[in-house]
Amino acid sequence: MVDIHCHIFHGLDDGADSLQTSIQMAEMAIADGITHVVGTPHANSQYKFDPGLIRQLRDELQSAVGDRLTLATGCDFHLSYENLRDIQNNPQKYTINQKNYLLVEFADFAIPPSMDDTMHQLQLIGLSPIITHPERNALLRTKPERMYRWLHQGAYVQITALSLLGRFGSAAQDRAEEWLDDDRVHFVASDAHNLKGRPLQLRAAFDVVAKRRGEAVAQALFQDNPLAAFEGRSLPYEPEQLDPSAKPPQYPRRKRFIFF
Ligand SMILES: [Fe+2]
Repeated sequence: MVDIHCHIFHGLDDGADSLQTSIQMAEMAIADGITHVVGTPHANSQYKFDPGLIRQLRDELQSAVGDRLTLATGCDFHLSYENLRDIQNNPQKYTINQKNYLLVEFADFAIPPSMDDTMHQLQLIGLSPIITHPERNALLRTKPERMYRWLHQGAYVQITALSLLGRFGSAAQDRAEEWLDDDRVHFVASDAHNLKGRPLQLRAAFDVVAKRRGEAVAQALFQDNPLAAFEGRSLPYEPEQLDPSAKPPQYPRRKRFIFF
């Protein structure tokens, strides 16, 4: 499995607190069957984002774990005014493995009307935005229509593995399950921060998805799609997303499976 969102590099944000914790998180991932991990530190008003330092931490951790795990860098990109200005000039500074997919996180209390335009602007500079854990955001959970529109316009959705296990409450779990059933999810990631409460594991959530949607969908969300994002390729599993403002279709929805 491939994890595109976690806070494994130490001393940068509220993730790993020491190199030893980073190494233990990496060992935990390997034991869980994870082969690739993207460390995605926060870039927001609380935490400064320093790509040089992040790469240094990646190299340090990579040499500690050897070739049993492939590590890359990315960013848990907060959609602030400053970040959006900077990314126009330096898109690959923030993307997953310096390719074209970008994790975007929303504020908990307000999503400005300009966000529709922002998502479009990111696409215009060649980026594919991945909306991180909308099931944990009360605004997107209760009013998901805007997210459906972004999906229709080509954005993707990543949910958190622990949401599927009920660890973020029943409202988050219900939405995660509903979106999973409705083919609105493209990635499941750990968003790991530490060893206990937010561990770097995906297997239990993989089993939940496999039971609910079948092995092929689980394989797509935990392996094939995240590996494609890691390598900067188009996603092999990309179900058609309807325009939420359009009238409901009079025919059964056609799902687009490229690999399956
Ligand atoms: Fe995160």
